[in-house]
Amino acid sequence: MQISGASSPAPLNLPSPARSLADLRNRDLLTFTQLAKPCVLELFALAKELKGTRHQQRTTLANKSVILIFEKASLRTRLTFELGVGMLGGRAVYMDHSVQRLGEREAVKDYAKNLERWLHCIVARVYDQQIVEELAEHSSVPVINALSDRFHPCQALADLFTLWERAPSLTVEGKRLRIAYVGDGNNVCHSLMHAACTLGVDITVVTPKRFDPADDIAAQCQQLAKESGSTLTLASKLSAVEAHHAVYTDVWISMGQADQAGKRLKVFADYQVDHELMARATMGLPASWGPSKFMHCLPARRGVEVTDDVIDSPGSIVYDQAENRLHAQNALLASILA
Ligand code: CP
Ligand code: NVA
Repeated sequence: MQISGASSPAPLNLPSPARSLADLRNRDLLTFTQLAKPCVLELFALAKELKGTRHQQRTTLANKSVILIFEKASLRTRLTFELGVGMLGGRAVYMDHSVQRLGEREAVKDYAKNLERWLHCIVARVYDQQIVEELAEHSSVPVINALSDRFHPCQALADLFTLWERAPSLTVEGKRLRIAYVGDGNNVCHSLMHAACTLGVDITVVTPKRFDPADDIAAQCQQLAKESGSTLTLASKLSAVEAHHAVYTDVWISMGQADQAGKRLKVFADYQVDHELMARATMGLPASWGPSKFMHCLPARRGVEVTDDVIDSPGSIVYDQAENRLHAQNALLASILA
C-alpha cells in the first residue's frame, strides 16, 4: 500500500484518513492520523464486541498470513499480534530482525516485493519510521506500524479504547476527557496526541524543555484539535497536570537511546509520576470519576518514571491497556483484512 511522500517527517501529506471500517479495508496504519474519528469509534465498538466474545474462534482471517517483523524487543505487541491473528483464524509468522536491521541484507523495496507474494499483511516494529513507509510504498499488502522512532499508533488505539470503555461519550459529567502526558515527548506521546486530538479529548503534554514533542506533530495535532473541538497544551511545569482524568507516562530512555541514559535520567528526574502528582491531577475532578487514572504503555521502569505505589494503585489501568492491545488490534486486523 502506498502513501504519498514516503520520507519522514511528512505526516501532513498523508492521504485522507479512513472514515469507516469499510474504508479501512486494505489500508496501511503507519500513523494514527490515517484514522478519522468515526472510524476509530467503529473500531472501538468492534473491539468491545470481540473482547466480549474473545473465547470464540473466528474465521475472519482464514487462509490469511501476517508477518510480524521486529527490529526491537517486544512482549505486548508481539504476543497480542501473534495471538490475535490466531484468534481470527489466520497464521502469524514472526521474523526476528533484532540482529540484522531491515535494508541491511537486501533493499527494503525487494524485501517488500517478496513479502507481498506470500502474505496478506505486514506488521513491523522498526527503528526508523521511514522503513515502515518504504515497506508500505513498495508492497501491495497493508502495513501496520508496530512502533517506530516517531509513532506507536496501535498503542494509542488501545489506550483511547481503554478510556472509552470508562467514558463512551469521551466526556465525564458533560466535560471533555482530559489526559496529561508527563515525561518524554516520544513515539508513544506523539501517537497519544494524535489519538486524543482526533477524538476530541483534551491533552496536556508536560515535558522538560527540549524533550517536547516534534514541532510538526504538535502543529498537526493543533489542527486536529481545532477540528474535533478539543485542546492540546504543551507545558514544562508539573502544575499543568491539575484536573486530568488520566496521567500517562512512558520510559525516559526508549529503545535505541541507551547511549543517552545518563543525561536523560538527570533531565527527567523531576518528572517522576508519584503519589503527589496523581493527587494534583485528581484535584478538581468530579467524585464520580474517582482518582485520576494512571496509564503507561509498559514496559515500565518502576522507581524511575513511576513509583511502585502509583503503578500498583487501584487507579492504575496499565494492565487494562495491555489487555486491550489484543482487542483493539483484532478489530484493526479484522477490518483491514476483511
Ligand atoms: N507497549 C508495548 O508496545 O510493549 P512491547 O514493547 O512489550 O511490545
Ligand atoms: N517509548 C518506548 C515505548 C516502548 C513500548 C520505546 O520506544 O522504547
